[in-house]
Amino acid sequence: MSLTQTESWGTRVGLILAMAGNAVGLGNFLRFPVQAVNNGGGAFIIPYLVCFLLMGIPLLWIEWSMGRFGGRSNNHSTPFILDTMTKRSFWKYFGVFGIFTNIAVAAYYCYIESWTMSYVYHSIVGTFDGLSQTQVAQFFTSYVDIGVSTTGIPYEAVIFYILCLGLNTWILSRGLAGVEKAAKIGMPLLILFGVFLALRGLTLGTSGASAEVPTASAWDGLNFLWTPQFDSLSNPKVWLAAAGQIFFTLSVGMGTIHCYAAYVRSKDDIALNAVSAGFMNEFVEVVLGSLIVIPIAAGYLGLDWVKENAGFGMAFQTMPFLFEKWGPVLSAVAGVMWFGLLFFAGITSSLAMGTPWMGFMRDEFGWGRMKGALSFGAIVLVLGLPTVIFFQEGVFDEYDYWAGTVALVVFALAETVLFAWVFGMDKGWKELMSGSDLQVPTIYKFIIKYITPAMLLVVFLGALFTPANNEWTVAFQDLFSGNGWALDNSSIIKTIANTGLHQQLAAATDPAEVTRLTDRLFYTNMARMILVLTFAGLSALVYVAALRRMKSNPSTVA
Ligand code: ALA
Repeated sequence: MSLTQTESWGTRVGLILAMAGNAVGLGNFLRFPVQAVNNGGGAFIIPYLVCFLLMGIPLLWIEWSMGRFGGRSNNHSTPFILDTMTKRSFWKYFGVFGIFTNIAVAAYYCYIESWTMSYVYHSIVGTFDGLSQTQVAQFFTSYVDIGVSTTGIPYEAVIFYILCLGLNTWILSRGLAGVEKAAKIGMPLLILFGVFLALRGLTLGTSGASAEVPTASAWDGLNFLWTPQFDSLSNPKVWLAAAGQIFFTLSVGMGTIHCYAAYVRSKDDIALNAVSAGFMNEFVEVVLGSLIVIPIAAGYLGLDWVKENAGFGMAFQTMPFLFEKWGPVLSAVAGVMWFGLLFFAGITSSLAMGTPWMGFMRDEFGWGRMKGALSFGAIVLVLGLPTVIFFQEGVFDEYDYWAGTVALVVFALAETVLFAWVFGMDKGWKELMSGSDLQVPTIYKFIIKYITPAMLLVVFLGALFTPANNEWTVAFQDLFSGNGWALDNSSIIKTIANTGLHQQLAAATDPAEVTRLTDRLFYTNMARMILVLTFAGLSALVYVAALRRMKSNPSTVA
């Protein structure tokens, strides 16, 4: 029931850049290097590439096909895209994930995006000039920590967050044309900045070695990442991390691709476009993503330091200090390029997160672009402020875990079953190949039907029942000898029960530590409550939309 005639993409290049921009994000530059380092460098790459070929690419094709299929009947968000593919009405409630995940991820994602805006500003005005590494790290801590602010509000963080959301809202209010334009400007600039910094990383060699770290070499970082270690193939922990990274980086299991693809004209190619956007993302991730932070940090601080300190904050706590070693002018240029690159990567992804909500409200309730964009901005602000204000208390991490990790796998599994088994693989394949400029190898029919869902199921079960200390062999031995299956605190089940936190709390004796952990428990549960209420609210909207459809066409089911 589209109340307004829909838009479509202006040009094919614009569509591919927008889709690539959706995928290329902070995950490529911040999450990928950290995952790779934490999972053994070269040990990570093989599972990562296998997951790309057997889950990433198939999911891209599934989501593009579902999106264009739904778009034909003017459905632009997953609840009713899924609904058009089956007679069973419950599937549309699975589709709620495709709006929920975007809103919840946007809430914390825009926060990191706002850091990059602020760091561009600070690089220009020279805030980091002459600061030691500890001082640069302290700058970051005082930026995000309410404990440092006497009023309990990290003002600068809040201001940049609101600015960043305002910018997203403004671009979204201009519709697809605005998104396309942002991608056409942002993506080339991002690649240009990335290539410059990567060349700098590559040519650093051993020139950064200092008296403090005499063995530091950029090449150590690169060798560590790129020397394959085949024994990792039998380590489920690395596979889980690789699969998680593939989901996050390609933005599959989110609902954004369905929404973007719903605006593709019904006779236009999707198979080649999907692969083009996917490979562009992989180029940016595995080539540019691995040639900046790791070699530069390893080149100045040594590989051991990188292994010990790998984390999301490394880009903010360390890079401005390392750039300083390039002299006053180049360090400002590099700072603007690095944080500018992150900003473009971030905004082309966060814009994509706004479109499913806007598409849904437009399709079902006739909301125009301005109303859709403003409401998205307002909802994200309400959901996002707790991540800004209670960042140190773990609200941000909680959103990232449930919305940015678990929800992706759950939805990807559900949509694969729907596409290959309910809608039917033959029909699905026909949809993918219609108007296609690429002859997809027919082996993918088999992969999409059997391998992809099987891998998704294994990933999901592996995360649900992660055994103690990630010792899978020990866990299976225990199970078969009748000693049960001891769960790790990082398993989904133990995470729901907050087991790790409760254990820490029980062991804590220092009153300050007890207060910190008690607060963390409170804010963790608060974050979950917010997420559950958001999901419930969106489900209620879908129910109302279904009732409205039923009234206008009594043969449909709510
Ligand atoms: N795909 C986006 C990223 O990598 C969400 O950051």
